[in-house]
Amino acid sequence: MSTDTIAPPPARQVEPAERVWAGELAFLAAYDGGPRPTGWRLTPRAVVTFICGSDGEPLRLPGGAVGGRGAAQDGPGAAAPPEKLVVTRKFVGERDQVERCVVTLAGERGLLLVGEPGTAKSMLSELLAAAVCGDSTRVVQGTAGSTEDQLKYGWNYALLLAQGPSEAALVPSPVMAAMRAGAVARVEEITRCLPEVQDALVSVLSDRRISVPELSGERDAAVYAAPGFTVIATANLRDRGVSEMSAALKRRFNFETIGPIGDPEAEIALVRDQAEAALERVDAPFAVDDAVLEVLVTAFRDLRTGRSVEGWDVERPSTVMSTAEAVSVTTSIALSAAYFPGDRDPLSLVPGHLIGVVRKDDPADADRLLAYWDGAVRRRAQDESRARAWRRLWELRGVLGH
Ligand SMILES: Nc1ncnc2c1ncn2[C@@H]1O[C@H](COP(=O)(O)OP(=O)(O)OP(=O)(O)O)[C@@H](O)[C@H]1O
Ligand SMILES: [Mg+2]
Repeated sequence: MSTDTIAPPPARQVEPAERVWAGELAFLAAYDGGPRPTGWRLTPRAVVTFICGSDGEPLRLPGGAVGGRGAAQDGPGAAAPPEKLVVTRKFVGERDQVERCVVTLAGERGLLLVGEPGTAKSMLSELLAAAVCGDSTRVVQGTAGSTEDQLKYGWNYALLLAQGPSEAALVPSPVMAAMRAGAVARVEEITRCLPEVQDALVSVLSDRRISVPELSGERDAAVYAAPGFTVIATANLRDRGVSEMSAALKRRFNFETIGPIGDPEAEIALVRDQAEAALERVDAPFAVDDAVLEVLVTAFRDLRTGRSVEGWDVERPSTVMSTAEAVSVTTSIALSAAYFPGDRDPLSLVPGHLIGVVRKDDPADADRLLAYWDGAVRRRAQDESRARAWRRLWELRGVLGH
């Protein structure tokens, strides 16, 4: 066997949004040739369309737009965008809210997306960055161990020791790289960083430069932000509160609170689409019927809000019953159905998965789930007009372990 062939690069498990949606982004750049803020790939309106979709309507390129400004940016190798395209909805939420986010970024202000876990804050931040500057990968992941270096810059210690501080030895953080490029930097879970570490962003967002005192006396003693630079941060309400952020930093961000999905139908459709997409990625058929999806998403919503669709009170578990969890449970159920077909009906897997989600925080939540079964599930099972799935779910009460 020949050893000089180069193996193709392994496929990636997750592609950044700008690659997943490269076709749509190129199309939208050509579709809307209007004025755009400095450094932006798309117009603000096209960014909103990219995220919220075109309502199932195909958009048509204006005459002569192919090969126009947007298409030309991607270089000669990039394929010309199609003449018409339906832009998919990626974020389920109010268009107004997405518009506000885009306006914040167009004004080069920091944007902070806050909300419960699993409400697509990170996804929205990634989509915004991909649409605005074509690169969503300049990300700092905030943790309890984050240091200021990770937000500003570090050093290549071998070079530093050999040559002393120099531009070549400087290792820019993703924030610094975004400043140089006039692009979007993302800071995930900012409130998990210590407040004094978070505050490194105050000077970045107000002075728009990072000084490098080690290089003082040289031309590169400060790195300045190019026009277009801005920051999108996310914060999870279950972590250390945003209330602990310094007032100075808060003032430099516009806050947007991302809530759970309001419309049940939209949530069911989203869960189906995302689980289907997950199965497609592993080449497995998706065989979970709508009745199972409806029951599952309804249970998630009842437990999340503390009130059933019928208006009955439901005891809320302390775990967040997020849409993201509903997607992963549906994916697991679909995988079971694909790999172990005929073993068990998908509905019979629902209680086991629900207990797995609910028990994550507080063991007492298992009793709350049982109370949900004895309340809402039982009442629906007794109602002849309801879907059979609720009766089957009630019969499965034993799975909950009491
Ligand atoms: N409104 C929504 N629109 C589209 N997808 C959503 C929505 N809400 C939840 N999801 C689903 O949730 C997944 C996870 O979202 P994401 O990781 O961005 O949440 P998050 O708010 O950042 O959560 P965390 O606080 O745990 O980091 C998304 O990939 C998507 O499948
Ligand atoms: Mg997140």
